Amino acid sequence: MSEIEVLGVVGGGFMGSGIAESAARAGLTVVIHEPEAAPLERSRERIEASVAKATRAGKLTAEEGEAMLGRLTWTTELEDLRGVDAVVEAIIEDAKAKGSLFKKLDALLPDAVFLASNTSSIPIAEIAAWTRRPDRVIGVHFFSPVPVMTLVEIVRAIDTSDATLAAADALAARMRKHPVHTADRAGFIVNMLLVPYLMAAIRMFEDGFATREDIDEGMKQGCGHPMGPLTLCDFIGLDVMYAIGVSLYDEFKKPEYAPPPLLKRMVVSGHFGRKSGRGFYEYPQAPKPAAAKVPAAA
Ligand code: CAA
Repeated sequence: MSEIEVLGVVGGGFMGSGIAESAARAGLTVVIHEPEAAPLERSRERIEASVAKATRAGKLTAEEGEAMLGRLTWTTELEDLRGVDAVVEAIIEDAKAKGSLFKKLDALLPDAVFLASNTSSIPIAEIAAWTRRPDRVIGVHFFSPVPVMTLVEIVRAIDTSDATLAAADALAARMRKHPVHTADRAGFIVNMLLVPYLMAAIRMFEDGFATREDIDEGMKQGCGHPMGPLTLCDFIGLDVMYAIGVSLYDEFKKPEYAPPPLLKRMVVSGHFGRKSGRGFYEYPQAPKPAAAKVPAAA
């Protein structure tokens, strides 16, 4: 039985909204925080649309959908997280931004069961070092799209306690996700294997080796992957891919993790993939990004 009944989710982007949706679907009460009103509103719209789709598809009754939405609250005030049982953070992949958030959460939530980060590649120990209780800091890494993907990587840092690990496992089980346990090394299990493959696909495209379509069809039809690598990069977000590559390269200094020059050029130009309307492919429906920026290098 999970000790967590009320979960705080900090960051209402694609990942944070997916985590909140999955938690609410599992019966938890969820408070989602985003400092800006516009992305917070997009988070609400995204989850409402997903619930409406699930209701239309007969996966949820109208009553269940309504009850689920009733368990979600959206707020721009971090203070509104006071009293939640635990937090999962899903903000930008930037060690300093995460660290200063954890410092605030640590002060705001002295009794929280755990403070978890959904980071894909930043050391949990580095985030925990910003708090006075590193024993309750843990990595809980979900996969995109969160409502569909059943895996969670549970990342134990150097000071994470057994009780924190057990509580994170219980939350994963409650959310009907399969936990795998990994050491606190950049990339954990999945990205350590996935990122060299995706970076190689970008280099292959950059070198004019094959068209984007043929690279993607090669892996879809040749290996049965649901998405080709360039489509998957666009789906994950090229800004996120760049940040993960930088973290992995910083940790292991192996060229296979280093973001290729083309990836950096695309990110500085605001070509973030599906969310910005342009990546390796074009997505005419997506909103244009407010400003292009490269995530801070480690
Ligand atoms: N929310 C809720 N449900 C969703 C959804 C979302 N955002 N996206 C898709 N679905 C559901 C659909 O409703 C559908 O459900 P049913 O089968 O019950 O009808 C099902 O998922 C399949 O969706 P679609 O038919 O629309 O599309 P598809 O068959 O092409 O599948 C996909 C879409 C599940 C995204 C599939 O393409 C896929 O698995 N892609 C690979 C995703 C992947 O590799 N994710 C990991 C990324 S790496 C990561 O996240 C870690 C990191 O740190 C970078």
